[in-house]
Amino acid sequence: YKRVTTKSLVDMKKNGENIAMLTAYDYSMAKIVDGAGIDVILVGDSASNVMAGHETTLPITLDQMIYHATSVVRAINRALVVVDLPFGSYQSDPKEALRSAIRIMKESGGHAVKLEGGKEIKESLKRILHAGIPVMGHLGLTPQSIYKFGTYTVRAKEEAEAEKLKSDALLLERLGCFAIVLEKVPAKLAKEVAESISIPVIGIGAGNGVDGQVLVVHDMLGMTHEFNPRFLRRYADLHTEMTKAFEGYRDDVKSKSFPSDDEQY
Ligand code: KIV
Ligand code: NA
Repeated sequence: YKRVTTKSLVDMKKNGENIAMLTAYDYSMAKIVDGAGIDVILVGDSASNVMAGHETTLPITLDQMIYHATSVVRAINRALVVVDLPFGSYQSDPKEALRSAIRIMKESGGHAVKLEGGKEIKESLKRILHAGIPVMGHLGLTPQSIYKFGTYTVRAKEEAEAEKLKSDALLLERLGCFAIVLEKVPAKLAKEVAESISIPVIGIGAGNGVDGQVLVVHDMLGMTHEFNPRFLRRYADLHTEMTKAFEGYRDDVKSKSFPSDDEQY
């Protein structure tokens, strides 16, 4: 396998090849995602929702993110592994931000970190980048700020927020980020941002004018039945498949048809 690097992602944008990114939080899933040729695996703080069952991404801790990231890194042959800095691990001050990023790099073996925000976290971004740690930005609907937004609806529909987003994207490029996630913003704005910078813009609910796409793996596999945003395309119906499997097993155990003669010693 030729490993994906932050540089190869920037080259992919140059060559017009879109980047395929998915989340993963554990070894077994990451092994399948990596084997399928997904370019970037994000150890997202969405683990707080899909793995731990929290309503928001705020509760997950740095230690928990490192546990997930360590499990993912053990499975990877090719993909670039990006790890979210969780809420509270980088907002207080730039030194703490760098310490958190260093812990992720040293303890998990991940290849890069992702932080939510633009201008507000400029000094933290600088410090982390100056330490040689690759950074992916994240703008638009940044879920760690959900209590500020008060809603999960599309961001930057108004002129002022769209202008700030555009200048934040330019700032992230100028500081040296290797890519930016743009979440839930109008497709026209996302395309404009992608065309204004040379680093890849990876969208989720940001239309088809960007340089790549990311989805939460449990969502695209159809494991999360209750979650139905417009941007989500389901590539499997694992909720139905898994329910069938569990019911089949339950029935076989109850009826004593499992194990059969061939399935015992
Ligand atoms: O945590 C996450 O899964 C993310 C993606 C949705 C971009 O940040
Ligand atoms: Na995230």
